[in-house]
Order: sequence, then structure tokens, then C-alpha cells
Amino acid sequence: MKQQTQEFLIDFISHNLYGKCTGYDFELLFKLYSALEIKTFSEILPRAKEFCSFLENHSHLITTADPAHAPRIPDKIASLRHTFKTYFETRGKIDQKIFADIVTTIAPNKRKTKTLDVGASKFPYSSILMAKKIEQLESMDKNFLLSNESLFAMNVIASETLFDEQTSVNDYDFIVGRYPCSAIIPIVKACKASNKPYFIELCECSIPWPSKWPAGEYFGWENVLPEIDPNVHVMNGYAFNIDATESQIMRVINRQNMKKIFTFKNDIYVPRRISNNSNDTVVISDGTWSKQPEEFEMI
Ligand SMILES: C[S@@+](CC[C@H](N)C(=O)[O-])C[C@H]1O[C@@H](n2cnc3c(N)ncnc32)[C@H](O)[C@@H]1O
Repeated sequence: MKQQTQEFLIDFISHNLYGKCTGYDFELLFKLYSALEIKTFSEILPRAKEFCSFLENHSHLITTADPAHAPRIPDKIASLRHTFKTYFETRGKIDQKIFADIVTTIAPNKRKTKTLDVGASKFPYSSILMAKKIEQLESMDKNFLLSNESLFAMNVIASETLFDEQTSVNDYDFIVGRYPCSAIIPIVKACKASNKPYFIELCECSIPWPSKWPAGEYFGWENVLPEIDPNVHVMNGYAFNIDATESQIMRVINRQNMKKIFTFKNDIYVPRRISNNSNDTVVISDGTWSKQPEEFEMI
């Protein structure tokens, strides 16, 4: 950690009495710290660990400022470590990677497409991945763990707000979101009104009542969204209106989703399982596989 960063943290902790200043918490402090220390993806996890160690080593500053809350400090740091592990440990986050790969493949003008990723989460992993291939990538959620500066250094423009009925999409070429919950209907409405393409991986938490399960039946997005946008395609958990046939899009989706169970080696897909058994090898042609493995390991 840079000397200048250490001085900043010590000064901040000493002047913001722990527990007595509204809004002061370790996540907020980490966000300020990230602006000074984190500029690349690979720096995130080690710098986050370093930050927790710094707090542990300087907890006397916090406890001196506010002895009444002293017993809470170790719990707070443990909770912060858990938050960092949950969000920043990207091994196994294959769903976000698959979503990013689909979006960057189907984006109308590829690199040039100004894209808004809605509901990107406190750590916008999909946005960061997409921003490697898309020049203008804006990421929207209500609260990011990383500073705007850190995200900007990773080519992501942070927009800390919620998408609602008032949100304009006129400034974007493509609106996307993976499980963007309450934003699903506003996105479809806004894109329909402004004739913009969208691609959403659907979560079911925001299917509106009372139509959610009428008379005990499952009533899903495939019933709700066409009432808002007659041009929507709802299939396999995705909703989109982009200018391509369903089969073209489904081929991209299927190929990407195969990464969940297969990994690509020497022009063939092999199950995600460490195995030397050649019988496990699966040859893929046009989105289908000739032999499905009985068991596999999710990464
Ligand atoms: C299930 S998480 C999905 C996060 C991320 N896209 C992923 O795939 O890991 C849903 C996220 O959507 C955000 N969200 C919910 N409603 C939203 C809205 N109206 N506008 C923007 N973000 C929203 C939540 O804050 C939350 O971070």
C-alpha cells in the first residue's frame, strides 16, 4: 500500500469517529481507498485483503476514537472479508461470464455499441468483462463497492442509480441486464418507446402480481412481456427484441451456456471434469453434443 494511501486512511479513520458519523462504514472507506489503489482487475482481490489487514492493524485508532463500539470491530472486519470474498472471488462465476460473452457476440455494432448494463451488482463483473470488448460500457446499480475511478480505469462508466419508468435510454445503443429484478419491465417499456434493442437474462422475482400465478398456474414473463412489447422474444430465461432471428440468438446462447458443463480444448469440448478418459470427450457440431457426460464438475 502506498505511503500516501496509508496516511489518507489513518487521517480518515482518526477524523471520522467510528459509529458516530452517519454513512461512515468500512465499505465506504474501501471505496475511497480503491480510488487510490485499484486500477486493474487483478489488483482487486489482493488490495481488498490488504485493506482488511490494514484495518486489523490499525483498529486501535478506531477504538480510541469510539471505545463504546470497540467489540464490534473484529466482527465488522470479518464481515467485510466475507463481502469481498463473495463479490470479488470470481472463480466459479461462470454465469456472469457467459452473459458477457453472449452480449459481446450479439451487440449490434460490436465494439462501437454504447451499452448499458442494468442491475450489474455491487461488483459489476459482467460489465468489467464486457468492457474489454465494448468501447463504451456503462454499468448501473445502486451502490458499487469500487470507486468510479477504479471502474473507469477498467473501461466501465459507473452509474449509481436505479432504472425506473423515468429512465431515458436515448443515449445508448443497447440495454442489457442479467437478473436486473425490478428493472425488467421499465427496460422493456423504455426500449419499446425509444425503439432500442435490449437483451435481458430474466429473474422471476419481479413478475408482477396478481398475474404471477393465477388460479395456481405458472404465469411467467412469456405472458407479461408481450403485453408491453409485442416484438419481444421470451425464451430459455432470456428476453430480447434484437434484430436477429430467434434461432440465431439461441445458437449463441446455447453455445455459450455449454461452457457451464464443457470446456473447449483443441477444437473439441470436453466435460468440466479433470479426466484422462478419452470416452469423456464430446464433439460438438452446431450447438449440440454427441454424448453428454454423466457427471461433471462446475467450476
Ligand atoms: C440478482 S442481482 C444480479 C447482479 C448481476 N447482474 C449478476 O448477474 O450477478 C440483481 C441486482 O439488480 C439490482 N437492481 C434491482 N432493481 C434494479 C433497478 N431497478 N435498477 C438497477 N438495478 C437494479 C440490485 O441492486 C442487484 O444488485
